[in-house]
Amino acid sequence: MKVLIVTEKPFAKVAVDGIRKEIEAAGYELALLEKYTSKEQLLEAVKDVNAIIIRSDVIDADVFDAAPELKIVVRAGAGYDNVDLAAATAHGVCVMNTPGQNANAVAELAIGLMIMAVRSFYDGKAGTELKGKKLGIHAYGNVGRNVARIAKGLGMDIYAYDAYCPQEVMVAEGIRPVASAEELYATCNIVSLHIPSTPATKNSIDYELLERMPKNGMLVNTARKEVVNEADLIRIMEDRPDLKYVTDIKPAHHDEFVETFPGRYFSTPKKMGAQTAEANINAGIAAAKQIVGFLKDGCDKFRVNK
Ligand code: 3PG
Repeated sequence: MKVLIVTEKPFAKVAVDGIRKEIEAAGYELALLEKYTSKEQLLEAVKDVNAIIIRSDVIDADVFDAAPELKIVVRAGAGYDNVDLAAATAHGVCVMNTPGQNANAVAELAIGLMIMAVRSFYDGKAGTELKGKKLGIHAYGNVGRNVARIAKGLGMDIYAYDAYCPQEVMVAEGIRPVASAEELYATCNIVSLHIPSTPATKNSIDYELLERMPKNGMLVNTARKEVVNEADLIRIMEDRPDLKYVTDIKPAHHDEFVETFPGRYFSTPKKMGAQTAEANINAGIAAAKQIVGFLKDGCDKFRVNK
């Protein structure tokens, strides 16, 4: 059996070593396609592989067509909006993610972005503190929970909206649940986005929602750029010079944001949330173990396609 790691943004070396150990202990071969620059390279690399480990790498119908031996794709991470699930199912390929494995890394980055922004991006001007501020977690999954855990230590008041998480769970963890996204945005000084990108959530963070934010509100996006309606975000930031946007996913109109909103906008140059040795090791080794479990024993826990 041949397992291929496909990472345009590579794992830390220590994580690749850990994955190799798992794969080779199972008697399989490991191949690597890192920092590739064209789809052709990807299509060529998959032609004889049985399993693929990916990050945000796009796995579409062309990739499944080019990989006749493929049985499983594991997204080493949480969001799998980069995989064509219907094409996978049509080709008889199992798709899994590794939920929770990189959640702390993303949460620490979200808090880091908040601190940077309230401290005026370290430009020497007086900023504000997070202590006592209302933080809205949208939504309360693995990353949202980790953000809440860290924010508690900073003395923030934490609110959350999650249509799928029972309110009792939040209350038991010291979080104030709210009944709607509208209420969350109207209540909180800072909102941290943790919703997946799905047809229902795409462009859902719009003008109508953002205009509810209190004065000096801030939106923190370590989730996906697609969930924010970019045209609406630009419009509300023009209409409300008090609002800030900080993100780990460069928007399509990054240059316009930089020019139009100095001191109110920041984007990492490349998605960095999950880019820690620990997260790479956790997610990478979990992916390797899930592949071995699937190929040897048919275990399909964490399968995300039908
Ligand atoms: C995820 O969905 O797990 C995060 O967005 C991290 O993505 P990455 O592995 O591409 O950094």
